[in-house]
This record gives sequence, structure tokens and C-alpha cells, in this order.
Amino acid sequence: MTKMVLTSVLQKLLDEHQAFRIVLSQPRQKSADSKKILSTKQGERWFWQEESFRKQQVFHRNFMEPNDVVLWWLEQKAFYKQALLQTSILDYHIILYSDGKEKIITQTAKREVLAEPHNRKKNYWMQEGQAVDFLVMLGIMNTQGKVHHQKYDKFKQINRYLEIVSDCIPDLPEGSLRIVDFGCGKSYLTFALYWLLHKMGRQFQIIGLDLKEEVVTDCNRIAKELHFENLQFQTGDIASWQNDQSIDLVVSLHACDTATDAALTQAIRWNAKVILAVPCCQHELFSEISDEKQTALLRHGILRERLSSLVTDALRAELLEVCGYQTQIMEFIDLEHTPKNLLIRAVKQQKKTNLAEANRNLESLLHRYGLQKWSMFTLLEKDIKSTMSPL
Ligand SMILES: C[S@@+](CC[C@H](N)C(=O)[O-])C[C@H]1O[C@@H](n2cnc3c(N)ncnc32)[C@H](O)[C@@H]1O
Repeated sequence: MTKMVLTSVLQKLLDEHQAFRIVLSQPRQKSADSKKILSTKQGERWFWQEESFRKQQVFHRNFMEPNDVVLWWLEQKAFYKQALLQTSILDYHIILYSDGKEKIITQTAKREVLAEPHNRKKNYWMQEGQAVDFLVMLGIMNTQGKVHHQKYDKFKQINRYLEIVSDCIPDLPEGSLRIVDFGCGKSYLTFALYWLLHKMGRQFQIIGLDLKEEVVTDCNRIAKELHFENLQFQTGDIASWQNDQSIDLVVSLHACDTATDAALTQAIRWNAKVILAVPCCQHELFSEISDEKQTALLRHGILRERLSSLVTDALRAELLEVCGYQTQIMEFIDLEHTPKNLLIRAVKQQKKTNLAEANRNLESLLHRYGLQKWSMFTLLEKDIKSTMSPL
């Protein structure tokens, strides 16, 4: 332990352009955000980026001047009981007392700390220039790995999907996985999922389901030619598809309208550990939704359509929470490529989620827009009677 104060350490690091990160922990108030600040570089220009996590969202704030970082520290330290300052040479463990005093314990650095490049290039699973068998077969790239010009958006979408799936792997059980892809269509993403899990050395079985028989026949042919074993496509309707084995991951990407509700319902009934759904063309609430106070929003068809889609997804997320899933809605792919860019990611929790809050949110949203129920709610009504308060 030394008598130094962190401000002087920080000032020195800033003056000497040494990279660091500070992680604040143990907030004095439970509701405080988790926060950290990192050295960042854009070309030769240094700046510092604060990252705060609130509920399931991440917020960023940039500080361009070293003095602002010192002020940030002086302001933030009052709200936390501990902080960790990491540099490439030393780690500083700081205990922060309510009277403003600090106790600092230094240790040899546990890791190298470099200034993060701003907007760093994503580390994609698949790189252009490296041929991947199924992408060649599906006409996304040529045998030299060059992505066909008109398939570039698809290539990006597949990479984004793999990024999202790989983030979910720690939430899935160990051992062999059973996966269902509802509304798999031409199955670019189903083949990609297979490729990823195989690359990760996992044991798994994937079933792709679609209404269209000719698409299913074609996908089975491609799977056979690729020697993708344990990948099987079936013709069927999501809502009535029967399964008596456990399912770990349910995927449903761009399944039309209420097919997403059917997919979510099936996943909940099977107690699937992880659900990934990208909803598509939600029409159900378009004519149902009403709100006297928002006439201006609802009288224009296009705004009504967007609002009803947002409300549908918010209701789905809340109902998933009611059913014990921690749920996030995140961007799937940039809006510039498709307006259908929201992804629902739900992970089943061991402990009960905050049912009362999810119930309240659900009720108030239904009430606010003059709604009684929607497909997913109707499908699950019986199953969730015990957990739902009467609406
Ligand atoms: C827009 S495509 C999406 C394909 C793929 N999931 C993707 O994101 O690239 C939607 C697919 O969902 C299928 N689909 C829609 N409703 C379905 C249902 N109730 N049961 C099974 N498949 C359905 C359609 O036949 C279509 O192939």
C-alpha cells in the first residue's frame, strides 16, 4: 500500500500517453451503471471512451482532453467503493471510502493494455479471400474466396449472425446440442450455423423446418453434397411441428408475421435454453392498435406499421421475460441493408426473473395501445396462467 492518490497516477499516464483502463465496481447505490473507461486511438489522436452498462444496454461517451478524464475520475469515484486501474506495467486496486480517501494496492500487471483502435475492424468468422465450401456451393463466393458483388450483403449478414451465435455459446449446455431452425428458407444461415459449430468441435444436430417442400428438398441435397451430417431439413408448419426431444437452441430468422410468435411459443414450451428470432413483417396488431393520445402517429399507414411492429416486439420480449427468459432486443444488421433488423435474443434463466416487473410492463403496454392479446399470448395463455396476473 502506498500514500499516492490515483489522480496523480492518472495524470502521469495521460501526460506520457500510456494506455490504461479503469473499471469501477461495487456501486454505492444498486441502481448505478457499471462503468469503465479505456484509452482509445484514432490514427495518432488519443481519446478516452467511457462505456456504461445500464440494464441490457451499453452507452458510450468520448473524452477528447486528458483533463476531462481526470474530472471524470473525480466525479465518478464518489459513486463506487472499488476501482481497478490497469496499465501494461502495474495494476492498481483502489478502495474508495465514503469520506473521499483512497487505499491503493499495486501489483504487477496481469495483462498488456493497449489503446483500443477506434471503430476497429470486426473480427469476422469468415474473411473474404478464404474460400468456404458451403458459401461457394450457395453461390456467395467463388472458389478463390471472392465474394460475388451482389451477395456482399448476405456475406455480411452471415458473419453478423455467426458473431451473435458465438456470443450465445456460453449460455448453451455442454455436450451434444439439439437445434431447430424455424422458417429456414434457403438456409444460408442454417448452413453457417452448422459450419460454426463444426469448427468449434461441438457435437450437435440441426433440424431446419420450412413450409416449402421444394426448398426443403434442395437444402437436403446441398447438405448431402457438403457431407454436413446431422443436418436435416423437414417440411412442416412451425405451429404444429411436433418434437419429443429436448431442444437447446431455437432459431427463427425472418419467419413471416405470426410465424415468429409460433416459433417463440414452441421454444418456450420446450424450455429451450437460447432463442434467437428476427421478426419479419408484423401485421397482426396493425388494425388493432389504438391510442387516442397518439392520433398523429397512428393516422399515417407507414408510421402505424412501424409502431405496431415495435409494440409487437416489445410485447414478445416482455412475455419471454414472464416465461423466465432474460431478453434483449438488438440490431441484427445495419438498417441500410434491411429494415427488418431487430433480433430478439432470449436466454432461459435458472432463477426466476422479475416476474412482477415483466407482468406490469406487459399489462401497461397492452393497456396503453388498447390491446387484449396477440398470437403469442393466445398460444401461451394456458401455459402461463399460473405466472401471469389476470389482464
Ligand atoms: C424470408 S424467409 C427467411 C429464410 C431464412 N430464415 C433467412 O433468414 O434467411 C422466411 C421463410 O419462412 C418460411 N415460413 C413462414 N411461415 C412459416 C411457418 N408457419 N412454418 C414454417 N415455415 C414458415 C417461409 O416459407 C420462408 O421460407
